[in-house]
Amino acid sequence: MTKLQWGMIGGGEGSQIGPAHRLGAGLDGLFDFTAGALDHRPDAGRDYGQRLGLGDRAYGSWQDMLQAEAKRADKVDLVTVATPNATHFEITKAFLEGGFHVLCEKPMTMTVEEGQEIVEIAQKTGNICAVNYGYTGYSLVRHMRAMVARGDIGKVRLVVAEFAHGHHADATDADNPRVRWRYDPAQAGVSAQFADCGIHALHMASFVTGQEVEKLSADTVSCIDVRTLEDDAMVNFRMDGGAVGRLWTSSVAIGRQHGLTLQVFGETGGLRWSQEQPNQLHYMPLNERLQIIERGEANLSPEADRTTRVTIGHAEGMPLAFANIYTDLAEAIRARKEGRLMDPAANLYPRAEDGLRSMAAVFAVADSGKQDGKWLDARPPMFR
Ligand code: NAI
Repeated sequence: MTKLQWGMIGGGEGSQIGPAHRLGAGLDGLFDFTAGALDHRPDAGRDYGQRLGLGDRAYGSWQDMLQAEAKRADKVDLVTVATPNATHFEITKAFLEGGFHVLCEKPMTMTVEEGQEIVEIAQKTGNICAVNYGYTGYSLVRHMRAMVARGDIGKVRLVVAEFAHGHHADATDADNPRVRWRYDPAQAGVSAQFADCGIHALHMASFVTGQEVEKLSADTVSCIDVRTLEDDAMVNFRMDGGAVGRLWTSSVAIGRQHGLTLQVFGETGGLRWSQEQPNQLHYMPLNERLQIIERGEANLSPEADRTTRVTIGHAEGMPLAFANIYTDLAEAIRARKEGRLMDPAANLYPRAEDGLRSMAAVFAVADSGKQDGKWLDARPPMFR
């Protein structure tokens, strides 16, 4: 089986998320890392790309990469966009229109209108536009989704999502330029913490329940005075299958590290998964004892079996969750090349439509917060 070719924009030396993508894409031997425009500084990007083995396919800018790759017979099969948020739209649009499949980092765009344009371009060109809600790649998140879908907890009544950390809690550090821009509307847009972390939790709530968010009411606050945008939000929401949702996201929760947690409560059982203990899923069937489901144990769903690599009891973590998004995409790209239907257990990567729904939710949270929690439609106009 020939390997697919993979390229990256952003993710340069010292970046936060670049290494997780390189580990994830390379893990199963499905993609070869062959091209990249890795840094906003052309020389630094070329130099780092060459050190990573890209040779003359280490480009100084994404425009150079697009132009050169489009002319090659062996052009990259998939491009990951891992640059800062404000550049996602322009780069993703250009590569989709240039004939490439794209995996874009979240948030996919800065506005709902841009998000809609990306969805339409992906539909028109037929190219894949995936969005990296990478934590949905965890094996037990996929299993949780399968359990809900097959009715193990009955009709879902409640979903409670959290993504709370404490890494921006130090008021004396709030003016540090590396922190400050995140809470500055000119650079971050209409929302800070919700757009950065809250959308992971909200997307996971939809992914696991199979329901989409219809409306929401938000209480947004800046606990640190100098901030214009929120560093904490509590969002109530309602989903189209009748589930009631609660979401808390914070960047001032001292002691919390990467607190992404999802609880789903149905008529006949409850489920709880937490990213900091990703290899255990808590399952409480009505009137029975708590069960702890381990990643890698026998008799899990095909979606969970497909996304587990090391045997039960050994740690499996975040780059492997990202790797599962890449294995889904490899299967999607291969199925297209071979003119066959893709494995349904792999057809779970988050889509441009999910990126668009997140943008609509971001704007609804920002507006609702300004209007004392007024309930607002959280759906993008094209899905109303
Ligand atoms: P970062 O600031 O650490 O790194 C950004 C990289 O992009 C740098 O190497 C920079 O030189 C490069 N870059 C900037 N403009 C560029 C351009 N025009 N062309 C080529 N390269 C360019 O940022 P970080 O934290 O790695 O975040 C990048 C994106 O990933 C953001 O959109 C962020 O929201 C997202 N992210 C997603 C996570 C997830 O779990 N899915 C986790 C962390 C970040």
